[in-house]
Amino acid sequence: MVRDLVRGFLKGKSAQRKKKKRAPKKIRKETKHHGSHRWHTLLKRTPHRTSSHRKNGEIAPTGNKELDALIGGGLVRNSINLIAGGPGTGKTIFSVQFLVEGILRYHENGLYLTFEENKEKFYKDMLSLGWDLAKLEEQGKFVFLEYKPEQVKNLIERGGGIIEDIIREGNIKRIVIDSITSFALLYEDALEKKESALNLFEMIGRWGCTALLCSQDTSLNDDLVIAALEFEVDSIILLYNIKHRGRRKRAIEILKMRGKEIPNKTMRIKIYKGGVKIYPDKIVDF
Ligand SMILES: Nc1ncnc2c1ncn2[C@@H]1O[C@H](COP(=O)(O)OP(=O)(O)O)[C@@H](O)[C@H]1O
Ligand SMILES: [Mg+2]
Repeated sequence: MVRDLVRGFLKGKSAQRKKKKRAPKKIRKETKHHGSHRWHTLLKRTPHRTSSHRKNGEIAPTGNKELDALIGGGLVRNSINLIAGGPGTGKTIFSVQFLVEGILRYHENGLYLTFEENKEKFYKDMLSLGWDLAKLEEQGKFVFLEYKPEQVKNLIERGGGIIEDIIREGNIKRIVIDSITSFALLYEDALEKKESALNLFEMIGRWGCTALLCSQDTSLNDDLVIAALEFEVDSIILLYNIKHRGRRKRAIEILKMRGKEIPNKTMRIKIYKGGVKIYPDKIVDF
């Protein structure tokens, strides 16, 4: 049962943390090198990672009507997608909408893996948006997992472990990781950060889920976004909440969507009960 697995996972937390951390083999080998050779090795490896996660061209509708209409029906099934934006831009709400819509409309179970949110408070906040996660959890359709970034570090080194069991047993088809930024903060060295992001993307790619990863930064110089671009994640969506003439405006931009023509405009969004609403005809000019 998924619930037993989650319980086991929670119990194992401290034990996992005590384990001696070892860098993954690949990283250990490559960090021996310095200078341009390391970059060369990394770049050379990247193409191998891109093919593993796209198993077919089927569509997983996000359930956000306007967005689905803009991107040819939805995200690619079993793809890895990045949603990036500053704090309060709506990443969490957007991602939970993707999971809840997936459950209610498309009968795809969802896993929300977080480094930041407290479950009780999170469930309460989401209830105010109209989403009863406790009920969906009770029905075995939704799993909430709170993770410490160091545990993900371990996970990458050991290749998936209990999360893989939860995904399999719970018949999970959609996964959100909120957010990969706190995970990236574990690494100081930019190259190491990029390497581990690539390893994380590769591991997620093997899970056979449509994945949405939240990132706290929209800057195209951000290590994670660079890593995402290099890994060729299937899509990158940016969210904004920018002050313009004394008022903040929310907006969305589809930066990349593999194999699809994307609208080259930044569009207004609003957050209501029920989630993020996009206004495709309202172009925002910051
Ligand atoms: N019920 C609601 N109605 C309207 N706006 C809301 C509601 N709940 C939250 N918000 C808005 O959503 C914002 C937070 O979105 P969130 O997804 O948590 O952002 P992020 O994950 O990017 O930090 C809040 O700043 C708030 O303005
Ligand atoms: Mg958030």
